[in-house]
Amino acid sequence: MNIDAIKPSEIKVAEFVLKQIPATLEYAQQIFDIFHEDPESFKYWMEYGLYKDVDEVLSEYQNKYKDKGFCKYAMYGIFKNGELLGEIGLGCIYTRRQTAEIGWWLRKSARGQGIIDKLLPTIEKLAFETYDLHKLTIWTDKENIATQKHAEKNGYVYEGCLREENTWNDGTHHSTVLYGKLKSEWQQKAAVK
Ligand SMILES: CC(C)(COP(=O)(O)OP(=O)(O)OC[C@H]1O[C@@H](n2cnc3c(N)ncnc32)[C@H](O)[C@@H]1OP(=O)(O)O)[C@@H](O)C(=O)NCCC(=O)NCCS
Repeated sequence: MNIDAIKPSEIKVAEFVLKQIPATLEYAQQIFDIFHEDPESFKYWMEYGLYKDVDEVLSEYQNKYKDKGFCKYAMYGIFKNGELLGEIGLGCIYTRRQTAEIGWWLRKSARGQGIIDKLLPTIEKLAFETYDLHKLTIWTDKENIATQKHAEKNGYVYEGCLREENTWNDGTHHSTVLYGKLKSEWQQKAAVK
C-alpha cells in the first residue's frame, strides 16, 4: 500500500487542524523550546535524550516523514489558530503486518484540556478505515501515567509489560507497557455510538 498516496495532507477536527509540521528553522526552534521547557515529561518521548540543538530538530523533521521501507509514518502537527500545540499520529505503520504504533505529545500549556481524547478517534479512523489496518498499539514507559490513562480511557486493552527492556542514555533500565486495539473492537465501539 502506498501510504503517502492516500495520506490526507490536512485534517480538520473541531477547532484543530492536523497537518505536517514544516521542516523550517522557525518550527525547529519552537519544538526545541517546547521540549526544553519541560524535560521531565518529554523524557518519555525522547528517552535517549532531548535534542541537543535546533539543528538536530531540523534534521530530524527534514527526514522524519520519509519512507523508511517497511515502516511508514503518518504523524501530524496539532495546530489551533496557527499555533503548534503538539503532534499526534501513527509513528510506525507496518503495512504488511497491518499494524501501527500510535503516539502523541502536547506542549505544556495545551495539556489538561482533553485534546488527545478529542483527536484520537480521527487518527483511529485514519488507521482502520483509510489504511485498513488490523491493529493499533500504544507502547509507553511504565512510569508514563498520562499516556496509560489515555489508553485505558479510549478502550485499549492492556497486553502486558516488557520488564526493563529499555536502557536510557543515563544507564537506567525502564519497563515498557503495551496496549492494543483491534479493528473489530474499534468497529464494535463505533456501532454502539
Ligand atoms: C502525554 C501527554 C500528551 C498527556 O497530556 P494530556 O493529554 O493533556 O493529558 P493530561 O495531562 O490531562 O493527563 C491525562 C490524565 O493523566 C493524569 N496524569 C498526568 N500526569 C500524571 C502523573 N504524573 N501522575 C498521575 N497522573 C497523571 C492526569 O491527571 C489526567 O487524569 P484524568 O484523565 O483522570 O483527568 C503529555 O503529558 C505529554 O505531551 N507528555 C510528553 C510526551 C509523551 O509522554 N508522549 C507519549 C509517549 S508514548
